[in-house]
Amino acid sequence: MKKTMLTGVRPSGNLTLGNYLGAIKNFVDKQEQFNSYIFLADLHAITSYIEPQKLKTAVQNSIAMYLACGVNPEVTTIFKQSDVLEHGTLGFIMTFQTKMGELSRMTQFKSKSSQQSKEGVDTGLFVYPTLMVADILLYNTAIVPVGKDQQQHVELTRDLAERFNKRYGDTFEMPDVYVAPIGNKILNLQNPLEKMNKSDNGDNKGTIFLLDDIALAKKKIMSAQTDSFNKVHFDEENQPGISNLMSILSKITDETFESIEKRFENKGYGEFKKEVAEVVANLLTDIQTKYHKYNNEEVLNEILKKGAEKASIVARETLQRATKALGLN
Ligand code: TYM
Repeated sequence: MKKTMLTGVRPSGNLTLGNYLGAIKNFVDKQEQFNSYIFLADLHAITSYIEPQKLKTAVQNSIAMYLACGVNPEVTTIFKQSDVLEHGTLGFIMTFQTKMGELSRMTQFKSKSSQQSKEGVDTGLFVYPTLMVADILLYNTAIVPVGKDQQQHVELTRDLAERFNKRYGDTFEMPDVYVAPIGNKILNLQNPLEKMNKSDNGDNKGTIFLLDDIALAKKKIMSAQTDSFNKVHFDEENQPGISNLMSILSKITDETFESIEKRFENKGYGEFKKEVAEVVANLLTDIQTKYHKYNNEEVLNEILKKGAEKASIVARETLQRATKALGLN
């Protein structure tokens, strides 16, 4: 029997190149080897205020985007988190197993809450990792492909699963995180000391969105911040901008860093960037063509309906196991 692989993405019509290279591509490449689930983390999207209509549109666009990125609904179960009510219940239960200190230590919480502190920090931001714990444990997940920024949350999942199993008896499968060696943290093109994020201080010059206009995406790569070494060389510490572009190129084409360095020996950054821009443009063109083809409300709703039915069966079984272990039924 195949082991289970699961990942989730907060719904946004504006998925980034970071989301694709750091998580979705790794999922797609492995989907046939596993019993695979990908879900729209729409409950995670409301941990901070989002306009309801915006959320609704984002959900539909995101499923079309998963398909455009290569998620195959014949192989993978695609569903929306809020369609499977067990996520909320197990999320609640797992919150009660968690120490305040464990959640305060989460680096995502620390960085995001510091941005919010003027108006007070949303509790959603504080407890969302335990919802993520439930997302993973409900499906007896063996492997969770994510970018580096989510690794700590999967580690928390392991800690909580172990604690629960010790206290209440063997209930949950222990998941492993899969963070790919290349592309696990795509950096902001304008500030390669920061991660490429969906929101990018307003001007978005450092973030490539999968739905960006192709000419604009190329321009973003061409104007990426680099350094004055003038050597195409992988050195994340001293040459973060160039190393980031090398990771992008390598992750899309599978070419090794050594081979890239060799080909661009004695060549300028302009030529190197031009190639990266071309490769990204081809990727985006392909994804966008498929995105428009798949963005059909009826078909997408059908996929979600089937996905929720399938996911619910497993989720219900796991939740029953957990509530029984707790003495609730
Ligand atoms: P989210 O929506 O922020 O990001 C989705 C996936 O994209 C990865 N990612 C990146 N990888 C490399 N470079 C980047 N610049 C970059 N930006 C984002 C993220 O690591 C993630 O894998 N809480 C999660 C969603 C979630 C989830 C889950 C994931 C909810 N429940 C259960 C796995 C399993 C989130 O907000 O991801």
